[in-house]
This record gives sequence, C-alpha cells and structure tokens, in this order.
Amino acid sequence: MPDDNFDLIVIGAGPGGYTAAIRASQLGMKVALVEKRNTLGGVCLNEGCIPSKALLDSSELFALARDGYAHHGITFEGLKFDLAQMMARKEEVVNKLAEGIAYLIKRNRIQRFQGSGKLAGARRDGLQVVSVTSADSPAIPHLIIGKRVLLATGCHPVELPQLPFDGEQVVSSREALSFSKVPKHLLIIGAGYIGLELGSLWNRLGAKVTIVETLPTFLPHADGQVAEALLRSLTRQGIRFLFDAKVVSTEPTQGSIKVGIEAAGTSKELQCDRILVSIGRIPETEGLGLSEAGVRLDGKGRAAVDEDFQTSTPGIFAIGDLIAGPLLAHKAMEEGVVCAERMAGQASLVEYDFIPSVTYTMPEVASVGKTEEQLKEYTIPYVIGRFSFSANGRARCMDDAEGFVKILAHKDTGKVLGVHIFGPHASELISEAVTVITYGGSAEDIALTFHAHPTLSEVLKEAALDSQHRAIHA
Ligand code: FAD
Ligand code: NAI
Repeated sequence: MPDDNFDLIVIGAGPGGYTAAIRASQLGMKVALVEKRNTLGGVCLNEGCIPSKALLDSSELFALARDGYAHHGITFEGLKFDLAQMMARKEEVVNKLAEGIAYLIKRNRIQRFQGSGKLAGARRDGLQVVSVTSADSPAIPHLIIGKRVLLATGCHPVELPQLPFDGEQVVSSREALSFSKVPKHLLIIGAGYIGLELGSLWNRLGAKVTIVETLPTFLPHADGQVAEALLRSLTRQGIRFLFDAKVVSTEPTQGSIKVGIEAAGTSKELQCDRILVSIGRIPETEGLGLSEAGVRLDGKGRAAVDEDFQTSTPGIFAIGDLIAGPLLAHKAMEEGVVCAERMAGQASLVEYDFIPSVTYTMPEVASVGKTEEQLKEYTIPYVIGRFSFSANGRARCMDDAEGFVKILAHKDTGKVLGVHIFGPHASELISEAVTVITYGGSAEDIALTFHAHPTLSEVLKEAALDSQHRAIHA
C-alpha cells in the first residue's frame, strides 16, 4: 500500500532537506523525508563540515601544544597524539549531532523513509509519486504520494579520469577524513576549500603536504590581499604549493605513487603515499528520474529552478548543492527554509548577495559581500578601512595576532559593500559584518557601536573607523 496524503516529500536529508522538512512541518504540512543513508545530516554532517572541523580542532590543539604555548610559559613533556582517539572523538561528535537531527525529525512528526528516492511520475489528479528502494527490498520499491516533491540530493566529488578514486591511495575528502595513519607525503590536487582545510589538518599532524593547483593562485573569488596573506601563512606552516600546475602522470610503485607534474612550464617528479583529489563537486542527479519527469538541468548539470525553487516540472522543487550557487551548508539550509515558506504562501527570500564564506585554516578566512577586485570591475567607488590584529589587545593576550580586517565601504554613502577577515576566529567575527551588510548598514554604524574591550571584535570597529581615517589604535 502506498503511503499517501503528504503535502511534501523531501528527497535527501542533508542540511537543505532536513531543514526544509522541519520548516514545512512547522507550517502545518504533512511531510515525508526520504534518505538513502542510514543516518541524517547529509554530506555536511557525515563527511563534510562537521567531521572536518572536529579534526581541524583536534589538530589545531595539537599544533598549538607543540608550537604555540611555549611563549605562554607552557611546555609539554613527551607530547604526542593518538590518531585513533581523534577519529573516535570525531565520530562521537557526528553521531551525537545525527541523533539530534533524528530527534528533531521525530518531534516534528516527519515520516522518515530509508532508501533511494526516485521520481515515479505524476498521477492524473496531479499528485506526485516517489518510489523508495531500500537495500532490504531492492526489487519492490515502496511508493509515496504527495502534492509536492523537494529534491535536496546534494553533490559528489569530481573524479579525474586519469586518476580514478580507489578509496586507498587516490581518495576524496570522505576517506581523507578517516585515514588510519598520518600519510608520509600527501599530494593534494586542487587548492580550494577542501585542499586548504585538509592540507592544514594533515600538515599539522606531521604529513608532508604538497598542493597542486591549475590556477596561478588559490581562492580566486577571495579578496586578493586576504588570499596572499593566507598563502604566506600556509607556506610558513610548511605546506608546499605548486601553482599553474597539473598532474601529468602517475605510476604506482611499492606502497607509494610516483607523480609527474608540470608546474609553470617545468616538469617535476615526486613520490607520495596518498593523493587527495579535491577539484570541485558535481550535482547528485543520477537515478532520480529527472529526465523522465521533465526536470530541466542548467549548463552545469544542476536542477534549474525559479524564485520559488520550482523546477521546470510543476510540483517538483530543488534546493542546496543540487542547484546553482555556492556549495555551502548555510546556503542549503536557508534555501530549505525559504522554499518551505514560499510553498506556504509567504514572501520569503534568500539574500544571495550576503552569503558568508569561511575557510577553516589557521588563521581562518571569512568574508561577505564584494571583494576589492569586484568593486574595481564594476567601477563602484569605494574606501577601504583596514586594521591588524597585531594592534588588538585581546589578540596579543591570546598570542594569536596574525591577520587583519578589511572593510570596503561606498565612497559616497559609507554603506558596507564587503568585509574580509584573515585572522583568529574570523568565522565568528564575520557574523557582525553579515548583519550590518544585510541590513544596509554603513561603516559608521559599526564605528558607532560599542564593542567590548578587550575583544577581537574591536578590530572590526577600528577597521570601520579607519575607513574614515580615524582609527584610534592604528
Ligand atoms: P547534502 O548534504 O549533500 O545531502 C544530500 C543528501 O541526499 C545525502 O544525505 C544523500 O545521501 C541524500 N541522497 C542523494 N540522493 C538520494 C536519493 N536518490 N534518495 C535518497 N537520498 C538521497 N559547507 C559549509 O557551509 N561549511 C563547511 O565547513 C563545509 N565543509 C565541508 C567539508 C567537506 C569535506 C565537504 C565535502 C563539504 C563541506 N561543505 C561545507 C559543503 C556542505 O557539506 C554542503 O554544501 C551541504 O552538505 C549541502 O547540503 P545539501 O542538503 O544540499 O546536500
Ligand atoms: P573548490 O571548487 O573549492 O576548489 C577546487 C580547486 O581545484 C580550484 O582551485 C580549481 O582551480 C582546482 N582544480 C580544478 N581542476 C584541477 C586540476 N585538474 N588540477 C589541479 N587543480 C585543479 O572545490 P573543493 O575544494 O573540492 O570543495 C568543493 C566544495 O565544497 C567547495 O566549493 C565548497 O563550497 C565546499 N566546501 C566548503 C567548505 C567551507 O565552507 N569551509 C569546506 C570544504 C568544502
């Protein structure tokens, strides 16, 4: 017997899907949530944001104990780490949060279905049918029927055709978050978010890390000065970068791989034991029955949607990594909320211009709004306010004073156009900037606002003052 009468059937329980399901339920809809994994939370919770940050935090503590506490007068005898325990703690964090989501789903009376969801057509009465195939009964799919379907199936890593993933030596971020021993030499292909974060993680734990990047620099969409400062810092931390470079050959040798690289016109060879391929991700559309259902894809293979997140097929919606925009969990969650609210007739919107981005390196990079390069390109007149953490009392107390805040404000109105932070706790500090920029605030608004002393947030205030040439501690 099919399960029917749903107002909404969500396929995919990542940050986009489970958030949409909860919001839809809050709005009075009867919701089904279909997920093929046996846990909820998607890539973000199970093999992305959370496990990577759990390990980054552990490795940062170790690196600080090794290199960063002596100046505080704290030294450790016989310092060592237990990788198995680090991995176990990471799993614990993931499991606890997954339990939390399962509880929320239950509490919101969302009906959960485990298995692969596929669009199985619309009935004559306009209701959508979704088939769910589980590992237990692969031959007999279960049918669910509802008014609308929301696709939130996310994406998966791009593979290099000449270097396919083997789960052992050539891996994606999933395996690189679960290595059972520290690689001797980890070669990373792609200096994007994953390359920089996982490169930092394994470098801190003692691996030699080389990152090969096709472009002449990394993070091409970041503010140029921030990217430069991060490059200097990561290089100082011991990560080796090869820009304008690509892997041209690989040859397995005993327990390791000989890799041929062409970098800036010269040929190089190196020996490594693991290769992490992190060159981007592609939408998860296979097996969803999209073409049979008439769901149109855009030029990049993502589901094309309108402002209601409705695809070209009425009654079928899509959000998150499956559609256009940055591949970020908070973007997927916001779309989940807004999509459910628009289904309920509310005039909600996603503020796409003000999505913050963070790279969880040490120091962190965080930004929102336009970069200086973009303002020049669009010939928008601007002023810059800049302030360094080295002149901030709290950063000095913490002995963590590398970096700066850069505020870009409109030359005539002072309206904040972009904020770029390279420094300690940038991921937390950026929230103030997101609030100000979203509400159309000015640099003066930040400058006139109390910031407790001594705190890192005073750097933001001083940068705002600096945009008007009146920083106090500059
Ligand atoms: P997903 O999280 O990918 O969830 C999709 C779900 O759909 C999955 O659970 C999948 O099993 C399920 N599914 C797929 N097909 C079907 C089907 N046919 N039937 C049933 N279920 C199906 N973003 C950040 O904002 N901050 C970070 O720090 C961050 N770190 C990251 C680190 C790594 C290593 C990676 C890989 C990604 C990271 N991201 C981060 C990106 C973030 O994980 C994604 O943007 C986010 O998970 C997208 O959410 P989503 O709901 O669209 O899809
Ligand atoms: P990415 O798009 O961030 O970076 C890929 C990099 O690989 C680019 O610099 C690109 O120029 C380079 N590249 C492409 N082909 C190459 C080749 N053949 N050889 C060498 N270099 C090549 O992709 P990444 O790092 O795989 O991450 C995927 C997505 O996951 C990101 O777009 C991001 O949105 C998300 N993510 C977000 C995080 C965060 O918010 N902190 C952390 C990790 C991932």
